Amino acid sequence: MLIAPSMLSSDFSKLGEETARMERAGADWIHLDVMDAHFVPNLTFGAPIVGAIRPYTKLPFDVHLMISEPLRYVDDFLKAGADIISFHLEAESSVHETIRAIRAGGAKPAVALKPKTPVEAVLPFLDDLDMVLVMTVEPGFGGQSFMAPMMDKVRTLKAHGAFVEVDGGINPQTAVAAKEAGVDVCVAGTSVFHAPDAAKAIATLREGKGV
Ligand code: DX5
Ligand code: ZN
Repeated sequence: MLIAPSMLSSDFSKLGEETARMERAGADWIHLDVMDAHFVPNLTFGAPIVGAIRPYTKLPFDVHLMISEPLRYVDDFLKAGADIISFHLEAESSVHETIRAIRAGGAKPAVALKPKTPVEAVLPFLDDLDMVLVMTVEPGFGGQSFMAPMMDKVRTLKAHGAFVEVDGGINPQTAVAAKEAGVDVCVAGTSVFHAPDAAKAIATLREGKGV
């Protein structure tokens, strides 16, 4: 599995250095959680911050938009250096138009699903997507507990040939369930940033064999 540390759990006073530290620790992607205090009850950062940390690593930027109007901000995130852009199916923008805008800008489009959204809702878009992000917690905050029933969604998506990322509550134990379900990319905030040794934490998650 690929591992994408979520910078939401990093030290925001030195985001650039923290990003470089994740690259040295063996991260595959850098996951950036954008929240607008409207789609989710929390506020993080926008495209200027993403652009500011872009020079600190060559790793792909996996930008997770938890915002009500993703289409309106796609260009800003493309200019800031996003490589993969995930937006929520539950957001207000047209799914087709948002996918098209992301791809036209040279990035990879992905759709994210909140826990209560049935997996069937994303199936009509699979041919146009590079990835589906299955939320394994309610979006908005780090440090929540993994929802194991979401692995049914992962299995359905894998049966349809999708590339699947999971986000929320991933730790050495829950990464085992993710791997068994066929997950391609695990996002991990708390379990990487609160670990004494980030490199070891990332390697353990990637193995998906527990502790
Ligand atoms: C939650 C975010 C996640 C979050 C995961 O809304 O999308 O990326 O940072 O944090 P952990 O790994 O602590 O659950
Ligand atoms: Zn996320």
